[in-house]
Amino acid sequence: MKILVTGGDGMLGSALLRRLAAGVDGGPAPEASGIDLPDGDLTDAAVAAGLVARHAPDWIIHCAAWTDVDGAEARFDDAMAANGQATANLAMAASAAGSGFTYISTDYVFDGRGRGGDLDAGYDEDDALAPVNRYGLTKAAGEAHVRELDTPWQIVRTSWLFGDGRVNFPKTIRRLLGERETLQVVDDQRGCPTYADDLAEVLALLVSGRHRGIFHATNRGECSWYDLARETAAACGADPDRIRPCTSAQFPRPAARPACSILRSRRLEEAGCPPRPAWQDAVRRYVARLEAGQVGHP
Ligand SMILES: NC(=O)c1ccc[n+]([C@@H]2O[C@H](COP(=O)([O-])OP(=O)(O)OC[C@H]3O[C@@H](n4cnc5c(N)ncnc54)[C@H](OP(=O)(O)O)[C@@H]3O)[C@@H](O)[C@H]2O)c1
Repeated sequence: MKILVTGGDGMLGSALLRRLAAGVDGGPAPEASGIDLPDGDLTDAAVAAGLVARHAPDWIIHCAAWTDVDGAEARFDDAMAANGQATANLAMAASAAGSGFTYISTDYVFDGRGRGGDLDAGYDEDDALAPVNRYGLTKAAGEAHVRELDTPWQIVRTSWLFGDGRVNFPKTIRRLLGERETLQVVDDQRGCPTYADDLAEVLALLVSGRHRGIFHATNRGECSWYDLARETAAACGADPDRIRPCTSAQFPRPAARPACSILRSRRLEEAGCPPRPAWQDAVRRYVARLEAGQVGHP
């Protein structure tokens, strides 16, 4: 199987390329190539078509995206071009090449109030989209283009992603613990942390099995940002009580953040995907790699 990974230099794309190189399901490694912005801007339809024609993949895993959530409020058109138009361009190229397509989406396509207003209920794969902010709108636009594809497609929604990359939450907490005695972290937003390496494992299985449809893929369990910060502190050998809870109202951001971001997964189990590791386990593994200097962007 020949796989093309967009956003190959990014947090998820780079984890995915490493995972694919190790082979899938005990079989040989698929032939996987990564592309990123220096190879061409996917918002240009001719560029996207040219890249797909050159690589002639059996399957495209589209990890490239505008991921600056607050920046999408001020630069909506640019964010929409990167997440909506670029996805449409790639989908059109996939259709022309007969390639399967995987689109990575987000918890922010939901309204953030929980199904039926129940903050503990979370969201199923089939729940109605009502993006909580402009970034969510652009990602929902990308989803809409993928649903129209006439070749096999997957939409894989994930949340609270961390891994080898320039910025992510556990990495920021670890840095701040070295600079300040106490940290205030919001305790009124709940979601599912996801280690890029564990998501890469799921994506490898979904693509090699050529599964179709919408999937929710995160680490197992849910927590608040405060809980995640405390777990990160413990993994760093710091006293978790140095993390203090606060409310979202104390830290206003340009983009609205969902109170409930919990993604419930049913379809992965139906596709035969084994249970994901718990989020606490994922944090420990990631921080251990950070501490050992084993990550790219330390
Ligand atoms: N990070 C999260 O917490 C999170 C949560 C839920 C879902 N997701 C989704 O997961 C996927 C992967 O996220 P990530 O955090 O791994 O992203 P990332 O590290 O920001 O990587 C995305 C890559 O895409 C590139 N890119 C942006 N615009 C492009 C364009 N027009 N043409 C070609 N390449 C372009 C970026 O290049 P530059 O860096 O040079 O701009 C970057 O290398 C995305 O679809 C994202 O929406 C992320």
